[in-house]
Amino acid sequence: MYLGLDLGTSGIKAMLVDETFAPVGVAHAALTVSRPHAGWSEQAPADWIAGAEAAIATLLRDHPQEMARLQAIGLSGHMHGAVLLDAADQVLRPCILWNDGRSGRQCAELTGRADFHGIAGNLVMAGFTAPKLLWVAQNEPEVFERTAKVLLPKDYLRLWLTGEHVAEMSDAAGTLWLDVGKRDWSDALLTATGLTRAHMPALVEGSDVSGHLRAELADRWGIARVPVAGGGGDNAATACGMGVMTPGTGFLSLGTSGVLFAATEAYAPNTADAVHTFCHAVPQTWHQMGVILSATDSMTWLSEITGKTVPGLAALVTEVKEPSPVTFLPYLSGERTPLNDPDATGAFLGLRRATGLADLAQAAMEGVAMAFADCVHALRKAGTSIEAAYAVGGGARSQAWLRIMASATGLTLLEPEDGDFGAAFGAAKLAASCATGDTSERIFAKPAVRAEIRPDAGLAQAYAKKYEMYHTAWPCLRDLTA
Ligand code: XUL
Repeated sequence: MYLGLDLGTSGIKAMLVDETFAPVGVAHAALTVSRPHAGWSEQAPADWIAGAEAAIATLLRDHPQEMARLQAIGLSGHMHGAVLLDAADQVLRPCILWNDGRSGRQCAELTGRADFHGIAGNLVMAGFTAPKLLWVAQNEPEVFERTAKVLLPKDYLRLWLTGEHVAEMSDAAGTLWLDVGKRDWSDALLTATGLTRAHMPALVEGSDVSGHLRAELADRWGIARVPVAGGGGDNAATACGMGVMTPGTGFLSLGTSGVLFAATEAYAPNTADAVHTFCHAVPQTWHQMGVILSATDSMTWLSEITGKTVPGLAALVTEVKEPSPVTFLPYLSGERTPLNDPDATGAFLGLRRATGLADLAQAAMEGVAMAFADCVHALRKAGTSIEAAYAVGGGARSQAWLRIMASATGLTLLEPEDGDFGAAFGAAKLAASCATGDTSERIFAKPAVRAEIRPDAGLAQAYAKKYEMYHTAWPCLRDLTA
């Protein structure tokens, strides 16, 4: 038995699988995000531990015999968050999350201080960890002074589980302090942020053992002091669950944020168009991603302001024969790929007296699809070939959205057979990998494909036209909204 624990933005998920990776049990605990100021996004790390305790308690209650046979635990979590600990491992302030845009000004400053592009292989973007620490240094100097360790969100769960300060490569790559090619912390990038290696956790590969379950928790849960795998950032972990370990087929994730992910055999950074270049969760493998900040969150926002449920909105968009007359820019939380602009804002364009909610819902889906088309172009410009991608995440349950997505991006979308191949599943696979020492396809197998959604020629042509307009809209609006 293997347990995958995924710390998501909206909740914790614990997934128990057997040695053939068949699911045995799943438990959830909800989490909320606090937004104390415009552009801010925070969570209290204590809530993650409470959520993980609750989810694990559910599995222990529902599957006591299987849990007693647990062999390893794997972790995954939302990336880039900064958990600041004092010398006694006490949390100093709420965790600043991946979709927090407060550190835009600090990005420019850091970029001038060291070769982040060359060493970290990424633009200094507001959601990443390093500019958050510079923001804390400049705005909460007493907190910065007392900071003894900086941990990523899932690595704080690891500290609770094992008592160890450890990070793994895929998530560490999103801090901007990792030399992504060498898979080691960079002294130059740490110094540029006023930090040293002493502030950093030890590094392991995602498929390595990072520590063992603390005796106190093992006794309380009635399980052995099993190994805890390094695990992965949520995107690398999802890739492990989908068997996306080599170039070719990638995955497109329609979650709160949207991700287009492709594995690469070498470190191949390209900071133009804000492509993310990170380590994968297994040794000697890297990956590239285009990341958009409001994917299903665009629908959630529309649902909140209209009072309709998200499924209710999705049900308004069924037979898509032509583009919505309305164009939506999904930059509700700023944008990463390709804009790298935390201050970008969303927009509906082309409203008329006859415009209805169905037009807006379809426009929202199309706006997100256009943002993914931007990601496809950005990855191709970075030398990555991608023609097909597994479609995953909550938004992939809408057939209409997938048809829009395929036609707007030109990608063939692959719908996996029924099953849950998300980050918790990938974390459970990394647990199996650390317990067995196997990083081959035997563990990281690809799921069977239930359906292929190919671009529709007519719709693709119409979307190509709409994309021209979409693509030029923000540069015009930016000057008006500045
Ligand atoms: C990736 C990113 C998000 C988060 C939240 O760079 O910021 O995908 O990991 O899921």
